[in-house]
Order: sequence, then C-alpha cells, then structure tokens
Amino acid sequence: MTETAAGSRATDALGHTSSGSRALWERALASLPGGNTRTTVFHDPHPVYLVRGDGCRVTDADGVERIDFISNYTSLILGHCHPLVVEAVQEQATRLMSAAAPSELEIELAERLRERLPSVERIRFTNSGTEATMLALRAARAFTGRTVVAAFAGGYHGSHDAAASIPADVTLPPGAPGVPPALAGEIVVAPFNDLAATRAALEPRLDDLAAVVVEPVLGAGGVVPATDEFLHFLRELTREAGALLVFDEIISFRVGYNGAQGRYGVTPDLTTLGKIIGGGLPIGAFGGRADVMALFDPRSPDAIGHGGTFNANPLSMAAGLATLEGLTADRYASLEALTGGLAGALEALFAELGLPGQVTRAGSLFNVHFTEHRIRNHGDVRAADTQRLHELHLGLLERGILFTPRGMGCLSTPMGTAEVDAFVEATRATLAR
Ligand SMILES: Cc1ncc(COP(=O)(O)O)c(C=O)c1O
Repeated sequence: MTETAAGSRATDALGHTSSGSRALWERALASLPGGNTRTTVFHDPHPVYLVRGDGCRVTDADGVERIDFISNYTSLILGHCHPLVVEAVQEQATRLMSAAAPSELEIELAERLRERLPSVERIRFTNSGTEATMLALRAARAFTGRTVVAAFAGGYHGSHDAAASIPADVTLPPGAPGVPPALAGEIVVAPFNDLAATRAALEPRLDDLAAVVVEPVLGAGGVVPATDEFLHFLRELTREAGALLVFDEIISFRVGYNGAQGRYGVTPDLTTLGKIIGGGLPIGAFGGRADVMALFDPRSPDAIGHGGTFNANPLSMAAGLATLEGLTADRYASLEALTGGLAGALEALFAELGLPGQVTRAGSLFNVHFTEHRIRNHGDVRAADTQRLHELHLGLLERGILFTPRGMGCLSTPMGTAEVDAFVEATRATLAR
C-alpha cells in the first residue's frame, strides 16, 4: 500500500485482492480472453480500471486519482472531457447521432484538415486508424496496379492483416498468426532511419512496389523521429519507383499544427490520420492526392467500395471539430516547451542517479529509454533495459501517474509545470529505491 500523488489515499490497485480494479479484471476473465478486449491496455498484474477523467487527471475504480500521461494513447490532446468537446458532443447527441446519410459536419472536418495538411486534397473518414491504413494501402495498390508494400520494423499501423505482418525487428520475417503467408510475402520490412539498408531491402522489389508506409515519428516503436534525410530519401525513392509514399500520421499529427509533414517539409502522396482528430471519440481518416482518392468516387463504375455504418458519424465529427478549434498554433508551442522541460529534467535525474537513460521526443510526445546508446530505430529501442521500464511503469502507477508499460508518454494542454514536476518526482521516488 502506497501513498498516491494526491497524498491522501492508499492504492491497492496493483495486485491486492480487494482492489476494485482487480475485482473488475477477475470478473472480466469470464467474458473476455485474458479479461481483455484491447491488447495495448493490458499489463501485469492487471490493468487499472478507470471511472472518470477530468482535464489531465483520471480516477480509477478504487477512487485513486492519477495524472494521465497517456491520454488514451495520445488521442486526448485537450485532456479528458474538455468543455468545448463535451458541449459539442452533447449538442450533437440531441440532434443526430448517426444516420444513413452524410452530414455537413464531415465536410467541415474535411475542410479543417485540408487547411492544415495541403497534401490532403481529398479525404475520407473511417472509424479507426486501422481502417485508415488498410484503405490507404488498398488505394496505393489499386492506383499503381502493384502489390508490394514496404514498411519499417517497429512501425505500428494498426491490426489489419498487412499492418499485423510488420515485425518489431528487422531480423524477423513479416507475418503474424492468422495472416496468410502469401500476404506477408507482399510486405518488405526495412530498418527505420537507415538509408543504405532500406535501399538494399527495397531494390529487388522496386518494380512491384505499390507504397512505402512510414510514421514520420515512430510512435509505438519508441517515439523516434525520422531524420530529415531519411524522409527526403523515401520521397525520392518512391517517386523514382512510381510508388506512393504514405505517411501514417495517426500519432504524429499531434507534433505540430501542420502535422509532422509540415515540420519536415516532405509531401506524401497519402496520409492517414486518427486519434486527436476525433477529440476522444472513434475515428480514422485517409487522404491525399486527388487523383488517387478519386478511386473512391462512387460516381465511377469501378470505384473502390468503402462502406462503414459509422463512417463520419456526426458525434465523432463534432468532437473532432471542437478539438481542432481548441488546438491553436501557440498551444503546440507551449506543449512542446513543456515536454522539452520534462525530458531535460528526466535526463538530469537519470544522470544524478547514475542510470543510463535518455528521453526521445517530438512535439508533445516522449519516450523513456534505459540505455546509453543513441536511439535511431526500433532495434535500438528493443535493446534497452525493458525490466527497468516495467518497474518504472508500476512505480509511477503507485505514485499517481498513469503511464505506458513501454515508456511512451505524452502531454495534454491542461498540464503545466506542476504535473511535469509530479512526473519527475514520482520517477525519482521509483528509481531511487
Ligand atoms: C501510427 C499508428 N497507426 C495506426 C494506428 C491504429 O489506429 P487505431 O488504434 O485507431 O486502429 C495506431 C494506433 O495506435 C498508430 O499509432
């Protein structure tokens, strides 16, 4: 039993049999495999069940409050239940939740996104990032008449077959249980940020290459920004090969007003979006060159069908619009400055404690790595000390911080220096044990 950051209440959420979270998880075991329906929120000994979110704070089933440094895996950039978003959703819920017809809201959200992303000439909405990357790759294959897709080890593009085929390590073959081997054979995996190895991996398949899909900043793979050189190289390589360059900005759209592509000055053919553009409700989107997106124009007799009972549902559209409205350019700057302060303080702490540790970051995203080696790709991330990360995760949970088991975190606009200091102090208390 430990004190939380709130200072008043003891937490027993991490294994004590009487905890509310533990009881809920044990109940869930009878209905859900491993008590789980979202792999990325499971961790040992059991996840913490939440009942409330307010700004950057969440409360669990035992009444323990924590500062949320995950924000639903980066989605809630304005924090939980932001008044702008709540008002927009409440109002929309009384008007029209979903219907077998389009609404003006989808045009508005498309317009707001096109303003921020000039490469996105046309866009379509989905209900998840998984669907967005699946359809972007289908579009690339249809447009080029080719089948091979290149991706990068440790890149995460969701859970459809092609995305699930991408291994965490370049030494492993593509493929995953349940994915037809023939499909995995159409995926080429190269190491992120490595020009020579990427060229060598792709060269034998260039004639069949439909697309290169890349996160400009590896998200789940450890918050590793691409080098400028690498993204420019991919732009050139795809152009020369007649393949499409797909930026998966489902996480990295958060790094700046114009997304990561605005910061790098590289124009992809297609972009996938999700997370923050739905303001906390389910969403995904894919868009880009008008000639490619024309494949989905239903007026054409051979259009690619893209149904979806909840595509562009008015609630997600309303929440996304409210979020983008609250995300002014100066908000990005202050979030980034705060994140820089956190990263600097953590690295100073690691040095003071004599621990090999570093923090990679981009915009309001950051990732702790317990290694001295410079992190350039996911191979470097995997070589770091994951046991210490596990200890940090549980230690932070005990001390009032919601964080990811893999060391990734993000900041949201309700945070200030008090929350950053709380993170650093909880890290100190955990690691100095
Ligand atoms: C870069 C990236 N692409 C795709 C996805 C899949 O999005 P979703 O979880 O909405 O299906 C994610 C989810 O974390 C992601 O980080």
